[in-house]
Amino acid sequence: MTDTPAASAADETARRDESLVAAAANESMRQPEVGPVEGAAPLGHPCVAEPEHWWPNPGEDPVASFSGVSVSFGAVPAVRDVSFPIPRGSTVALIGPSGSGKSTLIRCLNRMNDLVPGSRVEGDVRYRGVDLYGPDVDPIEVRARIGLVFQRPNPFPKTIFDNVAFGPRVLGFHGDIHDIVERALRRAALWDEVKDRLDKSALALSGGQQQRLVIARALAIEPDMILMDEPASALDPISTSRIEDLMKELTPDVTIVIVTHNLQQARRVAHFTAFLTSEPGGDGALVGRLVEFGTTDQIFARPADERTEAYVSGRFG
Ligand SMILES: Nc1ncnc2c1ncn2[C@@H]1O[C@H](COP(=O)(O)OP(=O)(O)OP(=O)(O)O)[C@@H](O)[C@H]1O
Ligand SMILES: [Mg+2]
Repeated sequence: MTDTPAASAADETARRDESLVAAAANESMRQPEVGPVEGAAPLGHPCVAEPEHWWPNPGEDPVASFSGVSVSFGAVPAVRDVSFPIPRGSTVALIGPSGSGKSTLIRCLNRMNDLVPGSRVEGDVRYRGVDLYGPDVDPIEVRARIGLVFQRPNPFPKTIFDNVAFGPRVLGFHGDIHDIVERALRRAALWDEVKDRLDKSALALSGGQQQRLVIARALAIEPDMILMDEPASALDPISTSRIEDLMKELTPDVTIVIVTHNLQQARRVAHFTAFLTSEPGGDGALVGRLVEFGTTDQIFARPADERTEAYVSGRFG
């Protein structure tokens, strides 16, 4: 025991995020890099050297979904009975007050909660029609393939080039690794700023550049979905608008799930919005619930539930 005062909720969230970022980085650094495979496949159609048998073919709609999903940490429920789809090619915003389970839910989509000891996910989380928590699914591969961009940029302590090349190397992509890195950096609107210093440390970039680098790292494996948990809340307004522009450019090729506290941002970038809140469960403890999912226009202009109306009009939360 120490005599340090109890951490505030925000400190606690930051501390949990830090340990999750560290666990994810640690895991990825332990992955063997097999290097790109000879016999280049055309860029834009990257293929994996040996596809995992559970990894499905594209073409399923929606790209992902929650059905009756509940999450708990130890004995404490965090989110209960949430269902909504992630329509292919769209941007879906998760909004709601602090503690309503937005981060917990988005982390179900790449099995990031598994890195929290004692976490339990029940219900059905699907990606391309496959139960992400099914017995054949390798959580490490899920995390390698579905990138999660955190609030604080978390480039690896490697060069700019090696950060972006990391995923393709781990997954054994076919193709020219230089082309892959350049394409990802261009898509993340960072190429012009870094093309002359690809061999320099990623840690020397500004915060806004680091966040775009993390997005480039996620894009390098040509994913069809990426996850962003308050990706711009630590950035200045110019960097924020660059991230928002980038999101608009990435859809519909890439489906984006974003957590944001910035309601204007949700209105600007999201096609669909899920509003969550936390309410007393049966035992009186607060638990995150989905109140409403709909198009962003509907949620903001014609919310069906008065709790949504109160939140989006700024009267609550
Ligand atoms: N690693 C963890 N261990 C224990 N409880 C956790 C953990 N992560 C989240 N929780 C709990 O789960 C609930 C939902 O938290 P979560 O971080 O998902 O909310 P949020 O909506 O993202 O909040 P914020 O807007 O503050 O980021 C909270 O009660 C929180 O205390
Ligand atoms: Mg959160």
